[in-house]
Amino acid sequence: MKQEIVVCENLSKTFTVGSSEVKAVDGVSFSFERGEFSSIVGPSGSGKTTLLNLIGTLEVPTQGRIIINGTDLSHFTRDELTNFRRKNLGFVFQFFNLIEGLTAFENIELPLIFDSVPYEQRKQTVDSLIQDFNLDYLRDKFPEELSSGERQRVSIMRALVNNPILLLADEPTGNLDTKTGRAVLDLFDSLNKERGTSILLVTHDLSAAKRANRTLHMHDGKIAFDMKMEEMIEEGI
Ligand SMILES: Nc1ncnc2c1ncn2[C@@H]1O[C@H](COP(=O)(O)OP(=O)(O)O)[C@@H](O)[C@H]1O
Ligand SMILES: [Mg+2]
Repeated sequence: MKQEIVVCENLSKTFTVGSSEVKAVDGVSFSFERGEFSSIVGPSGSGKTTLLNLIGTLEVPTQGRIIINGTDLSHFTRDELTNFRRKNLGFVFQFFNLIEGLTAFENIELPLIFDSVPYEQRKQTVDSLIQDFNLDYLRDKFPEELSSGERQRVSIMRALVNNPILLLADEPTGNLDTKTGRAVLDLFDSLNKERGTSILLVTHDLSAAKRANRTLHMHDGKIAFDMKMEEMIEEGI
């Protein structure tokens, strides 16, 4: 049965800078089903990051509401949102956001520490994830000892360690060369196909966007097109 895990209703986010207002997201409505892999594309400044951060509860909407996995987040306090995020969401960023003084294992473990998971359980979860990814060799290395592709893999494992219902990735290949970027996208593909991970991928790279089954095109804070992969093929995009 199809199950909507994200519903955005008339979502807007306005930033006020000095005396001017920027409508970064402007009345966006869409829904996203469990197991979907969607990309969000659009020019720089079109509101992609803001939309992803709204869905990721890192930003609070000015208007409209977001329902994730049946939970309406509208009236959540900041602490409730943090707790919800820790339990349900995983994030991958362009610049990896790993902590330099911690090993790969410790970086991946961090979300579980924040979520008060006991050590034995943390160790088991992190080690089995590292084994699944065949990355045992980098378990005890520090970020500075890793290539950018390896760093992004560690950050993806960190995003998955809480077994999130939704993986949110903002330009995850933006700081990688083409070949390494392709390998990271292959990893997203297999996470989606083999584990059924639901993925929202923000990218300005059309070849990356095409990995998804559906693409939302943003323009001036609005969704200008919302196309399924089959439709994109038919239209020759
Ligand atoms: N924290 C912020 N404060 C003020 N303006 C912001 C902030 N974040 C984003 N914006 C503005 O909102 C618009 C959309 O930005 P963003 O969501 O980052 O777009 P994209 O990710 O598509 O490049 C831009 O005009 C940007 O300058
Ligand atoms: Mg952005």
